[in-house]
Amino acid sequence: MLSSGSLIIAVTGLASVTLAQNLPVGQVNYSSEAQPDLTPQTVETITLSFPDCSSGPLSQYTICNQSAPYMDRATSLISLFTLEELINQTGNTAPGVPRLGLPDYQVWNEALHGLDRANFSLSGDYEWATSFPSPILSMASMNRTLINQIGTLISTQARAFSNAGKYGLDSYAPNINAFRSPLWGRGQETPGEDLFVVSQYAYEYITGMQGGVEPEHLKIVATAKHFAGYDLENYNNVSRLGYDAMITQQDLAEFYTPQFLTAARDAKVNSVMCSYNAVNGVPSCANSFFLQTLLRDTWTFDTTDGYVSTDCDAAYNIYNPHMYASNQSIAAADSVRAGADIDCGTTYQYHLNESIIAGEITREEIEQGVIRLYSNLVRLGYFDGNSSEYRQLTWDDVVSTDAQNISYEAAVEGITLLKIQRREKYRSDRSMGQRNRPDARKLLWHTTLPD
Ligand SMILES: *[C@@H]1O[C@H](CO)[C@@H](O)[C@H](O)[C@H]1NC(C)=O
Ligand SMILES: *[C@@H]1O[C@H](CO)[C@@H](O)[C@H](O)[C@H]1NC(C)=O
Ligand SMILES: *[C@@H]1O[C@H](CO)[C@@H](O)[C@H](O)[C@H]1NC(C)=O
Ligand SMILES: *[C@@H]1O[C@H](CO)[C@@H](O)[C@H](O)[C@H]1NC(C)=O
Ligand SMILES: *[C@@H]1O[C@H](CO)[C@@H](O)[C@H](O)[C@H]1NC(C)=O
Ligand SMILES: *[C@@H]1O[C@H](CO)[C@@H](O)[C@H](O)[C@H]1NC(C)=O
Ligand SMILES: *[C@@H]1O[C@H](CO)[C@@H](O)[C@H](O)[C@H]1NC(C)=O
Ligand SMILES: *[C@@H]1O[C@H](CO)[C@@H](O)[C@H](O)[C@H]1NC(C)=O
Ligand SMILES: *[C@@H]1O[C@H](CO)[C@@H](O)[C@H](O)[C@H]1NC(C)=O
Ligand SMILES: *[C@@H]1O[C@H](CO)[C@@H](O)[C@H](O)[C@H]1NC(C)=O
Repeated sequence: MLSSGSLIIAVTGLASVTLAQNLPVGQVNYSSEAQPDLTPQTVETITLSFPDCSSGPLSQYTICNQSAPYMDRATSLISLFTLEELINQTGNTAPGVPRLGLPDYQVWNEALHGLDRANFSLSGDYEWATSFPSPILSMASMNRTLINQIGTLISTQARAFSNAGKYGLDSYAPNINAFRSPLWGRGQETPGEDLFVVSQYAYEYITGMQGGVEPEHLKIVATAKHFAGYDLENYNNVSRLGYDAMITQQDLAEFYTPQFLTAARDAKVNSVMCSYNAVNGVPSCANSFFLQTLLRDTWTFDTTDGYVSTDCDAAYNIYNPHMYASNQSIAAADSVRAGADIDCGTTYQYHLNESIIAGEITREEIEQGVIRLYSNLVRLGYFDGNSSEYRQLTWDDVVSTDAQNISYEAAVEGITLLKIQRREKYRSDRSMGQRNRPDARKLLWHTTLPD
């Protein structure tokens, strides 16, 4: 006891010396503090609207030409930006470009099991959205059709809210980290511990949300998160923001990444979120092996023209507490160059100007990420006017969907232990697992996708 007590004092003493050397006054050392202190701009609820492509300043440019390829449309828009305007669009709360009539945009919307971070009204229309059971319960139904249906209903509600200016077109869902240790405390957010099951959940939820596999009109951009090795919150004074997970190549291949392969290669997810933690010494958002070699070069994320967003403040965490970069301008440049296109946070917005001055990054490298975000907004119909796909959805569509019934159905189908409980005679039978296995297999069989 005595020796461990003095060890803590010794470590604490060391930490404050390091802090004094490394961190300017007022900055928290996040190696043990798990909650980032996000800037007001990051967490702001902003007024959302669609660009005016019929008579606004943008209407004369290629961005509003619905016959032009989506990449050309996005590229031409971004080429109109000054450097300061460009850097302003690299964060989740993007102020738009007033002189061009480009509205403010919010990338950070949530949909773990129903809409969140929507601007709900206090009463009346848009007061609520359906809350489905936690993913771990819904997926316990072993019913892929049900997961797809839930994703579809959530995105219908998302588009209705979006049309009312209360939700964006991107969503930071689903969470497809697998559930290994209950010490994490967030296992209910995941579809479970089995990699096959988690991957199927990813496929169904993502294609439900996005409106199919590479649909002509994207419905909502889903985000596969948190990539990778993220399953610790705050344990023994090690926070998720500073955690450096030591993961073997085998564990990485078999446990921490297969669901992201399914999300990118098969479901064609259009967004991936890099995680707070480091893996084997490299913060995930500065990890070009993750974001370029695996995701884009190997799992064909590049052909989807998807974008990577950081978790909220993870770009800052590359500096504090990971100390992988010695200041924020290097942290911002490191993560852009590794392939983290958009910063949930303000590190890019406030520091990429310094990175440019210091020669750590070029305008073209920053443009690439913003083009990826905006090419997805083009495919979501953001620039296509009032008659585009999904723009007619309203509050009536939120109310009239059978979402509440499906939410109930998911809860009933997911409570598998109740099913076993009803079979009293198997209770003390050691072969219970065996006896029930054919049922579970039948469920999977019935819901397996055709080739
Ligand atoms: C934060 O504290 C840890 C010790 O707890 C120390 O090793 C690390 O260098 C500190 N980080 C910064 C950015 O000062
Ligand atoms: C959020 O919704 C409320 C109620 O509908 C509305 O009054 C308010 O202006 C909205 N806020 C923003 C930032 O759009
Ligand atoms: C719109 O894009 C198409 C395809 O690139 C092109 O042929 C057409 O000329 C463009 N229209 C205008 C008005 O620029
Ligand atoms: C960049 O965004 C800030 C708000 O975050 C705004 O005050 C500033 O005017 C913007 N700059 C340009 C050039 O649009
Ligand atoms: C799976 O979910 C679908 C959609 O809710 C439902 O129609 C079907 O009956 C469910 N399958 C099973 C085996 O419960
Ligand atoms: C965790 O850190 C805090 C302050 O950083 C300290 O007071 C506490 O004793 C530490 N707990 C453990 C278990 O090390
Ligand atoms: C960040 O650190 C690098 C390398 O030490 C340095 O060149 C650069 O000027 C620093 N940036 C700022 C804004 O201090
Ligand atoms: C970089 O941008 C930030 C935020 O707009 C501003 O506070 C800072 O002064 C700028 N730095 C330089 C070197 O222009
Ligand atoms: C689109 O609909 C909105 C809201 O109904 C309206 O304010 C706007 O004028 C319409 N735009 C066009 C181009 O019809
Ligand atoms: C939803 O469930 C209620 C009660 O069971 C039923 O009356 C209603 O018809 C169902 N609605 C739909 C759309 O299935």
